[in-house]
Parts: sequence; structure tokens; C-alpha cells
Amino acid sequence: MNTATTTPQVHVIDHPLVQHKLTLMRQKDLSTSSFRRLLGEISMLMAYEVTRDMPTQLIEIETPLEKMMSPVIEGRKTVFVVVMRAGSGFLDGMLEVVPGARVGHIGLYRDPKTLVAVEYYFKMPGDMHERDAIVLDPMLATGNSAAAAVERLKETRPRSIRFVSLLAAPEGLSRFHAHHPDVPVYTAAIDRQLNDHGYIVPGLGDAGDRMFGTK
Ligand code: URA
Repeated sequence: MNTATTTPQVHVIDHPLVQHKLTLMRQKDLSTSSFRRLLGEISMLMAYEVTRDMPTQLIEIETPLEKMMSPVIEGRKTVFVVVMRAGSGFLDGMLEVVPGARVGHIGLYRDPKTLVAVEYYFKMPGDMHERDAIVLDPMLATGNSAAAAVERLKETRPRSIRFVSLLAAPEGLSRFHAHHPDVPVYTAAIDRQLNDHGYIVPGLGDAGDRMFGTK
């Protein structure tokens, strides 16, 4: 799969399958069930790229012909961190690909006036210092909630952190990297800009509402 690296820390996953599905998701008349299904499919495809350099370990197995040492992913060392609520739409596809991973949740809401992130929920597995954290949040918009989520996550001292979004705004990427230059971002597209309400344009609207049919 091709990954265009725009800066050392931003990976745009420009595989045609991802781009095709994203185009379908952007369209305003897509049904809730189709939106959800496509997000699941895209997250599986993105997981492939995000986990490309995951640590593996050799285990002894026996083929029908002989014994050999063969690599397996240290799946139990991965933690997917869902930024509620839209991040949950990314989770099932990721877990299909890395079923042994643990899951943490961070609840943040955007203050509608200041657009600043406020925390209301935080639950991580133990032993975070042994785990590679993959943060899931489909829309990297202002970057405020993404930066706050990663700030909070860093308190648990995971072994590494990477951030996965479906769409990113240039403003959000700048803000995120100003706070966390050490955290790579994986996204399917970088859109033009944010509008006055903090929405990504052209974007796809409110990802949570479209996923859960809550408009
Ligand atoms: N959150 C969304 O769901 N959509 C946006 O465009 C920005 C933030």
C-alpha cells in the first residue's frame, strides 16, 4: 500500500481502495449503515499501514514438514485508544486485524464556544508502559481534542503513540504537531481547511452523527 509522507510525521494513506471508500463516505446522502460499514472497511485497510512496523517476535511452530521459527505480532502489547465517541467507529476494523489488542477510552467534548477539549472519561488497561498505543479519532479538526487526548495518554507512559484519523485539517495537524512533534499521524486525506464552526471542509460533516444516525 502506498503511503505518501507529507512531513516526517504525517502519513497520508493514499491507496485507491481507501480513497474510493472515503469518496463514498463524504457524500451527504449516504445511509448511516453504509457510512458505518465503509468506516469499518477503511479502518481495516488503514490498520495494515499503521501497524507496518509493529514489533514481532519469533515463535517455534511445526509445519507439516518440519519445525521452524516464524514471526508473530506481539498483539497483546498493542492498545487501541478510542477517542469517544466517533473513534469507536474505527475500533472494530482495527480489532479484526489485531484481535489481541487491548482497548482504552478517552471521553472529551468540545466546548462549543471555545472549541477547547474538556475530559469526562478516561480508562486505560494496566501496564501501559509496555504497550504501543494507537489513538483512534476519525476527525483531526482543530487539533485541540487530539492534542488533549495524547497529552493525557502520555501520563500513562505508553511505549509509543501513533494517531490515526480519517480526515485531517491543515490547522489541526499544525496544532497537533506543535504539541506532540514525537507522535506520527496517519490519515486518509488532508482537506482544505476548517470552517468557522470548527468543521473540516470539504470534509464529511459530523462523523459521530453520521455513524450513529443522531443528527
Ligand atoms: N468533528 C467532526 O465530526 N467533523 C468535523 O468536520 C470536525 C470535527
